[in-house]
Amino acid sequence: VSFRFSLTHFCHQFLTSKTFPAGVSLDMTVGKGKDLAFLAKLTHVKPSALMAIDVQPDALVQAKAYLLQEIGHEAEQIEWRLGSHALIDAWLRQWPLAKDGVSLAMYNLGYLPGSDKKLTTMADSTLSSLEALMPWIIPGGGISLMVYPGHENGRFESQALQFWLQGILAQDWHLWQTARLGAEHAPYWVWMQKNS
Ligand SMILES: C[S@@+](CC[C@H](N)C(=O)[O-])C[C@H]1O[C@@H](n2cnc3c(N)ncnc32)[C@H](O)[C@@H]1O
Repeated sequence: VSFRFSLTHFCHQFLTSKTFPAGVSLDMTVGKGKDLAFLAKLTHVKPSALMAIDVQPDALVQAKAYLLQEIGHEAEQIEWRLGSHALIDAWLRQWPLAKDGVSLAMYNLGYLPGSDKKLTTMADSTLSSLEALMPWIIPGGGISLMVYPGHENGRFESQALQFWLQGILAQDWHLWQTARLGAEHAPYWVWMQKNS
């Protein structure tokens, strides 16, 4: 039996096994909508309590079609937002359901395979969105980040993230990181959980 280890699968398995406090959930980088479909199917997540964000209009169109396939018309209840996740604080303030906070947020950094590589996440907006998001996370909830240091911009973003995470260690967060050993610039997964 061959076993191909998938970091995304590992992350999804972990998140499926966890219990989360009640609150809204966010996909901060929708792309093709794979993580979004995963989120929408988690038992504690209702599509109406799910916000889906991307800067690319095409990504949202594609993801919406994909979600309609995966979860049917409930996909229309998702809060779709076109724009940078750096705007997250304003969007959460304007969303009545978010008043009790955010239980789970997912980032999949980098660019969408097969589309414009210039539309990649950038260290500055990634970090400012994280700073804006953190106060909204409910104790026991968390932020999942898939990071890809394999391309030039991703390497820079990863270094900035690592530096920033060192500062978070002293705060009310538990931090985990998982990567394959022995592979240079391997993608890695970060899980930030707010202390409960
Ligand atoms: C690696 S892809 C996400 C893949 C997606 N999670 C999936 O499962 O298909 C990264 C996405 O982030 C988006 N993006 C880039 N900068 C962004 C920003 N500032 N705010 C929100 N989305 C952004 C890109 O348009 C791209 O679709």
